[in-house]
Amino acid sequence: MILVTGATGYVGRRLVPHLMAGGWSVRCLVRPGRSTAFAPHPRLVLHRGDLEQPATLAGVDDGICAALHLAHVRYTGALLAALGPHVTRVVVVSSQRGNSRVPSPSVGQVREGERQARAAGERVVLLRSSMIYGPDDDRNLTRLAAFLRRCRWLPVYGDGQALQQPVHVDDVIAALLAALTRPAVAGRQYDLAGPQPMAYSELVEAVGRAVGVRPRLCHIPVNVALAAARWVPAAWGRRVGLVAEQILRLQEDKTASITAATADLDFVPMGLVEGLTQVHGSGSALPARPRAVGGPVDRAGRGARD
Ligand SMILES: NC(=O)c1ccc[n+]([C@@H]2O[C@H](COP(=O)([O-])OP(=O)(O)OC[C@H]3O[C@@H](n4cnc5c(N)ncnc54)[C@H](OP(=O)(O)O)[C@@H]3O)[C@@H](O)[C@H]2O)c1
Repeated sequence: MILVTGATGYVGRRLVPHLMAGGWSVRCLVRPGRSTAFAPHPRLVLHRGDLEQPATLAGVDDGICAALHLAHVRYTGALLAALGPHVTRVVVVSSQRGNSRVPSPSVGQVREGERQARAAGERVVLLRSSMIYGPDDDRNLTRLAAFLRRCRWLPVYGDGQALQQPVHVDDVIAALLAALTRPAVAGRQYDLAGPQPMAYSELVEAVGRAVGVRPRLCHIPVNVALAAARWVPAAWGRRVGLVAEQILRLQEDKTASITAATADLDFVPMGLVEGLTQVHGSGSALPARPRAVGGPVDRAGRGARD
């Protein structure tokens, strides 16, 4: 039996059916009061518990041989503490956020979670993913697409040249399934990302093309955006510190080498055009433009989540 944390999340609710189809029995750790969309199945059980409350995790490892940890990496220590030595493979999913140079509590949490994963040695396989996109509400590119459908004028902080490398959720799931069973990957870590980086402006253009819109990017100089973020009156209800952090993070390249994952996990991610076509259909008849202009946008429907 496999334990899955984060089973109600974007990746988790797609992963669990794959595990079931592969013949695994699955126990999902689900917070009390949260509902799952899973149909009842004799090989699917729920354990009601919260990774912030260790007492609720008692018995979560009964009968399991491996765990897939999709709840936030900051809970890695709590999860490992709840698992007996009979659980010999724990696949931990993290993000590229730990690479950020923008000071933030969330960066520290990711780094500490990853440190705990590495400290567990051969028992853990650590997968560090870039921004994940796919069907339904991925909270990343589908929100960008929805924004562009409503309004093709997109406010962009900076020059839009920061590099992005989004990865399709199906490719992340394939890597998770490979990391679950391959003996040779014990104790290793892998970066997961799309096949190649692209400037944020190119990403926006590709998403626009997929939904039949030619985006118009309205660049806001970073210094102007930061000053506005600092001086916007609190009465406007914006979390100013967070906004400033997002503006700075949007200037950072978010790229990763997938060479190791390709070699060890047969990770061959689909290209962005193929992935967007899968999500949005064949898109529009808009021709590709030779060169895009633009830049990153924020998370409120206009940019990357991770
Ligand atoms: N989505 C991305 O773009 C992206 C990019 C890079 C890395 N990642 C990482 O990949 C993993 C999966 O991403 P995702 O987008 O599927 O995440 P998600 O949709 O945000 O789901 C998070 C899951 O964790 C559960 N969870 C949160 N706090 C918990 C707690 N205290 N105890 C038990 N469960 C808890 C949530 O349960 P509830 O339903 O109760 O809230 C939910 O099932 C995450 O670790 C994420 O950081 C995601």
